[in-house]
Amino acid sequence: MKLIAGNSNRPLAEEIAKYLGVPLTKASIRRFSDMEVFAEILENVRGEDVFVIQSTSYPANDNLMELLITIDALRRGSARRITAVIPYFGYARQDRKTGGRTPISAKLVANLITAAGVDRVLTMELHAGQIQGFFDIPVDNLHASPIFVPELVKRFKKEPLVMVSPDVGGVVRARALAKKVDADLAIIDKRREKAGVSEVMHVIGDVEDKICIMVDDIVDSGGTLCNAAQALKDKGAKAVHAYVVHGVLSGGAVARISSSAIERLVIANTITATESAKSSDAVEELTVAPLIGEAIKRISEERSISALFR
Ligand code: R5P
Repeated sequence: MKLIAGNSNRPLAEEIAKYLGVPLTKASIRRFSDMEVFAEILENVRGEDVFVIQSTSYPANDNLMELLITIDALRRGSARRITAVIPYFGYARQDRKTGGRTPISAKLVANLITAAGVDRVLTMELHAGQIQGFFDIPVDNLHASPIFVPELVKRFKKEPLVMVSPDVGGVVRARALAKKVDADLAIIDKRREKAGVSEVMHVIGDVEDKICIMVDDIVDSGGTLCNAAQALKDKGAKAVHAYVVHGVLSGGAVARISSSAIERLVIANTITATESAKSSDAVEELTVAPLIGEAIKRISEERSISALFR
């Protein structure tokens, strides 16, 4: 097998390579002076099973182009099979038309990746599982439960927990985690009762005197989590923690979270942490390298991936 790393998350790619005991293939993915992307694979890949590791995180468009152009270089270099390993799949939130004359950009991105010439995709905690159907090639969508569950069990031991979905869209994710740690479930229902009036947060479920664990796929501005945490506190929650897979953390998200009702935000390293996230006491990072590494190994050996989540 060959592993190729784009520039979006080099530390994660190196950790995956270490887990697999396979060095990263020498490649140069660089810019021309006008910022066009150029990729050159510096080792023979003819007949190889190649995995390209690249999150399409900020700057999403540059990182996506790097991925597409690297795949093209591998295809033209006669790789036998190419798997795009996309720990964070950018544009996933644009997975449906939200109004007239709006795009479904997640589908467009899936088309672009397929057209570039990949044989399969390995990704993590897609915003919506249905995005797998935007591809007509195999997609493995890993879940973060093998990363989050042991940490939750270790930290909270036998304390009763309530898993909270901060919006209605994330209920399936929160319910799955609740089942694994034997916790109760609560849901935040956000509603704007009248146009121009601020949103009201309804907490569905009993959170009084309980430790609440908010679970989500993405934390971007932090607004969703901070508002939900406040609603939980207002309903008498003892403490609020957040476990989110993809720490986009744009703008002033870390400062917003640090001054919110959230005690700790735990994220995975699917996206390279920003400087503010690295230096914040409120943010902790867990690695997904062994999970992604194991999935890569199983793909290359044609073994089950779903067995990782039983
Ligand atoms: C939305 O449906 C997602 O699951 C996240 O809740 C959302 O992207 C978080 O965004 P923000 O942190 O900007 O509120």
